This record gives sequence, structure tokens and C-alpha cells, in this order.
Amino acid sequence: MTERVRPLLSEEDIMARVGELAEAVDADYAGRNLTLICLLKGGVIFMCDLAKRLKKAVVELDFMDVSSYGDSTVSSSNIRIDKDLEHSVEGRNVILIEDIIDTGRTLSHVVKHLKRQEPASLKVCTLLDKPSRRVDFDVTPEYVGFEIPDEFVVGYGLDYAQRYRNLPFIGVLEFIEENI
Ligand code: IMP
Ligand code: MG
Repeated sequence: MTERVRPLLSEEDIMARVGELAEAVDADYAGRNLTLICLLKGGVIFMCDLAKRLKKAVVELDFMDVSSYGDSTVSSSNIRIDKDLEHSVEGRNVILIEDIIDTGRTLSHVVKHLKRQEPASLKVCTLLDKPSRRVDFDVTPEYVGFEIPDEFVVGYGLDYAQRYRNLPFIGVLEFIEENI
């Protein structure tokens, strides 16, 4: 079996959409405090590109790491917080930054965790959304980059077994049978 990445969203598509999302966020938070919380590691490239384009909000960055997947392409409902925030978000305006929402379980777990700290506001921004896969409907993202079909994608932060995160585009991971 060899792996192949079939292009789905080009670097230009992604950067154009990130620019639009940044404009929307900037307008909503102009002159206000805003903590962007990145879910490691998948959200890191997206958060950096988004954060650089915010000109009006007063931005801080923080990071959380949660495990749900291991090295497989199958989701699990066991979610563990491996790294928590450096500072409490009590009284802050928060946007949680996700690479992709699949079943919605990770998001739902993290949102519950953050709400306990009583932020002033809490929204979710995800680059990708696979709505057809949702099993946990507790949280709906306010900012969505692209809705995509039920396929396993890699690149621009998203991995398969930790690889492909550095691709500047997003593609569908395909496994090809070799006939030798
Ligand atoms: P959920 O809890 O099922 O919504 O899973 C969300 C997490 O699963 C994401 O933050 C990703 O880390 C991972 N994930 C879900 N779908 C994909 C995919 O197509 N490619 C890579 N990672 C994925
Ligand atoms: Mg993730």
C-alpha cells in the first residue's frame, strides 16, 4: 500500500478564506480583548495565519492539547486534556480554534471545560467542518472555513500518524494497492 494525497483545497483557496474569516473576526471584536485558543497540533498553522491578519482586536494566544485520535483515522469518544491553558480565560472573549470538526466530541468536551472558567464570551472557529459525521450536536461553530465531505484529509496542520502537517494545501489521503 502506498499513500497518495489528492488535492482538495489549494493554498490560494485556503489563504483567501482565512483572510475572509479574519475580517469577520476583526469586525466582531474590534477594540476588544480576544484570546485565541489553539487546539494543538492540528490548529496551529491555521491559528498563526488567522492571528497575523487581525488588526483591530487586542489579541492574546494560548494553547491546549487534547487527545482523541491516536494514530488512527477512526474517532474515539475518550478525550483527555494533555496540556491545559497557561492563563485562565475568566472574563475574556475567547475563540477556540480548531483544524476540523468531525464527530464534534472533542469540541464539546473542550467547550464544557472552558465554560467552567466563565469567559466573557466563547465562540468556535474551525477551518474545516464535516457536518455529515456529527454525532455530538452540543456545539455549533460560529466561523467555518470550508464544509467538506466525509473523507480523511491531511495538510495545513492536519496529520495522518503525525505526517503531512507541513503541506501548504489540503488533500484527501488515499491508500493505493500496489500490483507487483
Ligand atoms: P472529533 O472529536 O471527532 O470532532 O474529531 C476532531 C479531531 O479529529 C480533529 O481536531 C482532528 O485532530 C481529528 N480529525 C478528524 N477528522 C480528520 C481528518 O480528516 N484528518 C485529520 N484529522 C482529523
Ligand atoms: Mg485536532
